Amino acid sequence: MMPIKFLGSFDTVESLPRTRVTEYAFVGRSNVGKSSLLNALVGHKIARTSNTPGRTQTINLFEWTEEECPITLADLPGYGYAKASKTEVIKWTARTEKYLLTRSQLKRLFILVDSRHGLKESDLEMINFCDANAIQYQVILTKTDKIKKSEGEKLRVEIDQEIKNHGASCGAVIATSAEKKAGIEELKSAIAKG
Ligand code: GTP
Ligand code: MG
Repeated sequence: MMPIKFLGSFDTVESLPRTRVTEYAFVGRSNVGKSSLLNALVGHKIARTSNTPGRTQTINLFEWTEEECPITLADLPGYGYAKASKTEVIKWTARTEKYLLTRSQLKRLFILVDSRHGLKESDLEMINFCDANAIQYQVILTKTDKIKKSEGEKLRVEIDQEIKNHGASCGAVIATSAEKKAGIEELKSAIAKG
């Protein structure tokens, strides 16, 4: 049996399957590498990735059974997508916020940040939203293969400092590369310890 299963693509929060399975979600700016990191984590190319920002526009759920106990992984649509219309942005933001506020089985939100760009205004808005609503989150740096090791380390420390005093942050920043499979074990253990 495959340890990873696609549960479906959901356009609205209301249509999500109602389960009690613990859930972990991936969010971040469009093109940051959410779907790629999910694939690297489960060791299977199951979430669709693309060079075109804005690829994932619905909430995609995957059931992952690594060690007997199944969990759900949610690949959320990216924010900060430049080509989206204002109406679309409002709709997507409302949906993500609704998901975060109502998904009671959500254990932790992974906020992905491109290591070449660092924290952007839209990431800070997401972080502030989580703080204000007591949604536990952890910041994950992506694409660290694209920058020097020393730069990645500096950024990791900076972000750790920045969010240390934030209410709902949990766990130190994890530096990852889906390309080079770096930081995957750390991410796995963050989930296992959840
Ligand atoms: P949206 O669904 O559009 O919001 O994007 P996403 O955040 O799911 O990003 P996705 O995983 O589709 O990756 C976007 C692009 O970045 C693709 O071209 C990936 O190949 C590339 N990419 C993702 N992760 C890495 C990484 O660790 N290193 C490098 N070099 N490229 C990566
Ligand atoms: Mg995606």
